Amino acid sequence: MIKRVRSWLNQEDSQQAHRISPDNIPHHVAIIMDGNGRWAKRRGMPRIVGHQNGMKAVKRAAIAADDLGIKILTMYAFSTENWKRPKDEVDFLMKLPQEFLAIELEELIQKNVQVRMMGHPEDLPQHTRDAMEEAVARTASNTGLVLNFALNYGSRKEITESIRALGKDIREGTLLPEDITEEMVGERLLSGDLPDPDLLIRTSGELRLSNFMLWQLAYSELWFTDIYWPEFTKEHLIEAVAEYQHRTRRYGGLS
Ligand code: FPP
Repeated sequence: MIKRVRSWLNQEDSQQAHRISPDNIPHHVAIIMDGNGRWAKRRGMPRIVGHQNGMKAVKRAAIAADDLGIKILTMYAFSTENWKRPKDEVDFLMKLPQEFLAIELEELIQKNVQVRMMGHPEDLPQHTRDAMEEAVARTASNTGLVLNFALNYGSRKEITESIRALGKDIREGTLLPEDITEEMVGERLLSGDLPDPDLLIRTSGELRLSNFMLWQLAYSELWFTDIYWPEFTKEHLIEAVAEYQHRTRRYGGLS
């Protein structure tokens, strides 16, 4: 109990310090978790140690997001381009969801978290797929934080597939090209019914999107930090949210 109160007080303190308003918390935050390899290299350790510590930062970020009242957290865990990495590293990355869920699934269930996966399961090793499918199934009716793992995800591929699906409807005569709307393209993306991210965070000082949610990020606020992903803490999330709350979102209009 004391621990709970203390953690609540710390949370209150840091929210106060950064003047986070509870009324303007981003609903959906997406994160490009970059810098695992460099974090490890800087310490003279193999890259996979960086990924292992990156996994710990995933848990910290999920707890912090939930504490702050963020409703959806999308984490870029593996891209359709990451298969180009050395086999050992890919194999290691493919074991992480399983390892993470073996340790955390029960707590995620208890905390009412809904786990989702956004990506192409068909190319994943069976053990990775099984772990994700189990987590998704066991948390499907949860109503708390949506923890959405982008796994074997690539935005150009998802946009191409959305267009292909619309093309099929046209060929079958159920759709006219002139009737295609932005909503129709959006609904057929892997993010499905999730609203677009309000805030995108990328760690490690790289300033690019790396084929991540290119359609959905059209009007998201972007926040970049030099810290490497394994160093990411609740304080960084608070900093990002504080900065977000200072932005004026105009969606191409006037404020
Ligand atoms: C990019 O950093 C990071 C990745 C390709 C992997 C991200 C995965 C995790 C953080 C763990 C995922 C955990 C779960 C539970 C799915 P990089 O290693 O390419 O960084 P570098 O540019 O410094 O080499």
